[in-house]
Amino acid sequence: MYNIDYYLSLLKKKDLNTYYHSVRVAHYSYLMGKQLKYTNEQLSFLVISALLHDIGKLYIPNSILKKPNKLSNQEFLEIKKHTLYVRKILKNWDSRLLNVIATHHERLDGSGYPYHRSGYSIPYYSQILAVTDSFDAMTSNRNYNQIKSYYEAIYDLWNCSTQGHNLYNYNLVSLLNQVLCTDNQQKIKHYSA
Ligand SMILES: [Fe+2]
Repeated sequence: MYNIDYYLSLLKKKDLNTYYHSVRVAHYSYLMGKQLKYTNEQLSFLVISALLHDIGKLYIPNSILKKPNKLSNQEFLEIKKHTLYVRKILKNWDSRLLNVIATHHERLDGSGYPYHRSGYSIPYYSQILAVTDSFDAMTSNRNYNQIKSYYEAIYDLWNCSTQGHNLYNYNLVSLLNQVLCTDNQQKIKHYSA
């Protein structure tokens, strides 16, 4: 069995923001997996992937990871490497899990990183992480981004899934809206032109 707690404790020590972000992404992903009627095995695969999706940031210098203002292009290139570092940090782990974690920043239109994969070549689990990761980044306190409301974030993700911007899986964005609205949230509708 993999020592997930150990790696989470390292992440918590390295950067509390990334740690709490990972926990929230795991929570959203779990709710989506439940709604997708995943088996316990599929759910734990999804939750472990979500908890450790940013584990590669252990190798990113604090001067970049905790920089209070906007990153330079060079620094952004550096931070993108966290998707590759996971294979070094979790070496010998299940290759399917490493593949999902390594591709959580890929986008359906091929504009993501690190491999510029597109469409069905991106694992479905990674497509879920792409939605939950981006949603949390938009709605939580990131230094260099304006915090969006729940509604703004869902609209933005929907708009990035339609109208020629095929970044996210539209159905998964709708599913996130559906599962979040059960927590006293009013479900919103998307009117695409
Ligand atoms: Fe990431």
